[in-house]
Amino acid sequence: MMTSENVVALNDVALEAWTSMIREQFPILKNRVHDKNLVYLDNAATTQKPESVLDAMDHYYRHLNSNIHRGVHFLSERATEAYEGVREKTRSFLNAASTKEIVFTRGTTESINLVADSFGRAFVKSGDEVLITAMEHHSNIVPWQLLCERTGASLMVAPIDDRGEIIVEEYERLLNGRTRIVGLAHVSNALGTVNPVKHLISLAHRHRIPVLVDGAQAAPHLRINVRDLDCEFYALSAHKMYGPTGFGVLYGKQNVLEAMPPYQGGGDMIRSVTFEKTIFNDLPYKFEAGTPSIAEGIGFGAALDFLTGLDWNAVSTHEHHLLQAATDALSEISGVRIIGNAAEKAGVVSFVMDDVHPHDIGTILDQEGIAVRTGHHCAQPVMLRYGIPATVRASFAIYNTKEEIEALVRGISRVKEVFH
Ligand code: ALA
Repeated sequence: MMTSENVVALNDVALEAWTSMIREQFPILKNRVHDKNLVYLDNAATTQKPESVLDAMDHYYRHLNSNIHRGVHFLSERATEAYEGVREKTRSFLNAASTKEIVFTRGTTESINLVADSFGRAFVKSGDEVLITAMEHHSNIVPWQLLCERTGASLMVAPIDDRGEIIVEEYERLLNGRTRIVGLAHVSNALGTVNPVKHLISLAHRHRIPVLVDGAQAAPHLRINVRDLDCEFYALSAHKMYGPTGFGVLYGKQNVLEAMPPYQGGGDMIRSVTFEKTIFNDLPYKFEAGTPSIAEGIGFGAALDFLTGLDWNAVSTHEHHLLQAATDALSEISGVRIIGNAAEKAGVVSFVMDDVHPHDIGTILDQEGIAVRTGHHCAQPVMLRYGIPATVRASFAIYNTKEEIEALVRGISRVKEVFH
């Protein structure tokens, strides 16, 4: 996280050795692209996976493959044990009070849809309000919009300032007796802003309003403690945390989840079914219909082991250095403008260049072996806020290096050569 607090100086040599040790664990980083070394700076879209995650998934399919929660046979019991072990790891990772509060989903998007649908059916009606912020990803906008269309509630939006920070007074002003729930990003995927979520949650709680935090971009960079944040819901995706795609988590406070109806119907989420009546299963299974992504869940467990095994002092120092180096270098290039200059940022530098469309920049960088994301980043209202169609986004992970930032800067010089 880019803040001067918590950044204890590790000397450069120690950090370099640490980064090399981390890089060794990611086989894809040895790839060449267009005959150049791969420089992977699209980590906010998805991170690469370490050997341990690949091995865990491979081991499951080779030695444990079977359905879970259903069989009395050896394989099914072993697979169930492995999968449920991940629930306990997730509880501990988030510091949740109980595994009943850990619902497994396909990712952040499904987690938010689950809450919008289920919480919405139980607690949101015509005339109510749902409050989000102007920096949300589409997945923290559209599910609420659908809910509002269904119920006749109104979607309210807390504005952001030019630096890309939520205007807290405006947010506070929008909290009122009609607000049924707040949805906000912990870290913005388009701007990199780290929001003061603990404070924003406590402001909502003054009005007894529950809060859902979209933690997709925070979980790879920050230590998450849901009991300290005191949020009602926290959503995250495995694939942005060095784990596989198609797997994610919805943390929910037990009493709130208990009060919500099921999301999808099917196997596993029931205790008994007759044509007259179905009795639903206990938490968290009430929200987990159908055969889950078992191999992905087990892969996520390995990703959590990888994350919890990291030296977090080194993680925050290294990521701070990367962000600072990229910000400083890009700021010095004439014609480049950084979008999003919040005081606290994590993992992301978004920028535009005079007279060159971001897609063209992305294409030229790709020829140099550099992967960045270009476009609206599923955050079109953020682009609208800044009056731009798109940005180039370089996003960082623990395995990135200063040399890769230098490669990005050389790539931008190449773009200037081509276009000017
Ligand atoms: N939400 C992902 C991103 O920001 C895909 O790129």
